[in-house]
Amino acid sequence: MGCSDQSRGSSDGRRTTLTFTLNGERVELEDVEYSQTLLEVLRDFLDLFGVKASCEVQVCGACTVLVDGAPVSSCCTLAADVDGHRVTTVEGLATEAGLHPVQQAFVDNFAVQCGYCIPGMVMSAVAFVAEESGEADLHTRKERLREFMNGNYCRCTGYEPILRAITSGLDRPSGNGAKAPAAWSREETS
Ligand code: FES
Ligand code: FES
Repeated sequence: MGCSDQSRGSSDGRRTTLTFTLNGERVELEDVEYSQTLLEVLRDFLDLFGVKASCEVQVCGACTVLVDGAPVSSCCTLAADVDGHRVTTVEGLATEAGLHPVQQAFVDNFAVQCGYCIPGMVMSAVAFVAEESGEADLHTRKERLREFMNGNYCRCTGYEPILRAITSGLDRPSGNGAKAPAAWSREETS
């Protein structure tokens, strides 16, 4: 489904100031046009080039970031709508301790070809594992994963290693069986 003109905003020149949390840091931006998308603001104002522009009509998932922990298409989200919210991009996942476990799983499973889709894939996967209960059987959880990720396209068609990377965490024991599987114990918190 493509984004509407309304969700992309109108270019009447009106401007605003935005304050939000970006990768754990408070950010204030002045002089942002109401019509500017989150994708534009992240790349053009904040030099966060991990977020990719591709279809720009909410079809491919390359521009996926998390807003309050939920995946959104930044190409069809107005920057003004994240005022007061929490935004996480792929740049916000790794810590001094190393890559986020989902990023590490992509590396370990050779799940990257040209790499263009990977930041969006990783952000969707992080959202999936953060909400995955681990209560269902593995087959059901894999089916849920496929459904959850069906808005992320890979033009290199590297879906099998990508799914293998994400399910490598689902395959492992889930600790007390309650929340996320043990392999994905570092939840997205920034
Ligand atoms: S660039 Fe946003 S969904 Fe394709
Ligand atoms: S790795 Fe090239 S588009 Fe997915």
